[in-house]
Amino acid sequence: MALVDTKKMFEMAYKGGYAIGAFNVNNMEITQGIINAIGKEKAPLILQISRGAREYASISYLKAIIDVAVKENPDIPIVMHLDHGDTFDICKQCVDDGFSSVMVDASKHPFEENVKITSQVVEYAHDHGVVVEAELGRLGGIEEDVVGVSADEIKSHLTDPDQAVDFVEKTGVDSLAVAVGTSHGAYKFKTEPKLAFDVIEQISEKMPDYPLVMHGSSSVLKEFKDLINKYGGDMPDAMGVPEEAISKAAKMGICKVNIDTDLRMALTAKIRQVFAEQPAVFDPRKYLGPGREAIKEMVKRKLHVLGCAGKAAECK
Ligand code: G3H
Ligand code: 13P
Ligand code: ZN
Repeated sequence: MALVDTKKMFEMAYKGGYAIGAFNVNNMEITQGIINAIGKEKAPLILQISRGAREYASISYLKAIIDVAVKENPDIPIVMHLDHGDTFDICKQCVDDGFSSVMVDASKHPFEENVKITSQVVEYAHDHGVVVEAELGRLGGIEEDVVGVSADEIKSHLTDPDQAVDFVEKTGVDSLAVAVGTSHGAYKFKTEPKLAFDVIEQISEKMPDYPLVMHGSSSVLKEFKDLINKYGGDMPDAMGVPEEAISKAAKMGICKVNIDTDLRMALTAKIRQVFAEQPAVFDPRKYLGPGREAIKEMVKRKLHVLGCAGKAAECK
């Protein structure tokens, strides 16, 4: 099976009340950890590549790794997706590079400018058989290339449901990332967040069957933060998005859930543990191998939170 786009999987996810996991990849071990979990749980998969990942690993290496994953897992529908493309040029480049889905994130611009950039990407991508995700509203948090609003500002930058309808009509975009109280990165919230389920509900009511996307959806699990710190790390206390909230959102029209930080933390905790417990280790296979296994376990856990385990066949 070749790479697929998100159309069929979003249709099935919407109908079935589950969400597809979109996991960020930066190298071979992360990709293999995710694929090993997916192969075991038989879930549809979105592998996403950020601009930072493109720069870190080079797209030809990442594409080659994903091509192998696709070839070796013919029973699993796999999407290769650009995460947070901020300009038309980067989105065009990814379409030309063989991505089956791209995200144009022009959410930092005023509405009309967001519409203009998104429409330009939609026109080019659709002409080449590639689907497009866009974003409306502002998330919290900061990662390397994605700068959001502060924790205090999140509530005043939620997606406006009427504007969402207008945006989708004007751009023809295939899916929409909405700001409903989530935040990127490991330092999301000081106290347990309350997602704006009312906003998800209102958008879904206004656009029945339309696939919504939730970014910044790591749960920043305390047990992993504690392991990282136990083995020499220094991560401050922070809370993520509770897994029960993710499961609830997945039943309400959220068809794609982006998770990166929880995988990074699982990998880092395991590598730190190996270094702390086996200081003589210097063979990268002896720490990257367990790290890959830790990614696999984390992804397996997430597939059950999202409800997409066992859904690969119906999404093909
Ligand atoms: O939302 C962003 C993703 O977690 C990717 O992060 O830009 O550091 O690769 P990155
Ligand atoms: P987290 O930082 O919560 O994992 O979010 C990742 C994300 O939204 C990637 O686009
Ligand atoms: Zn994101």
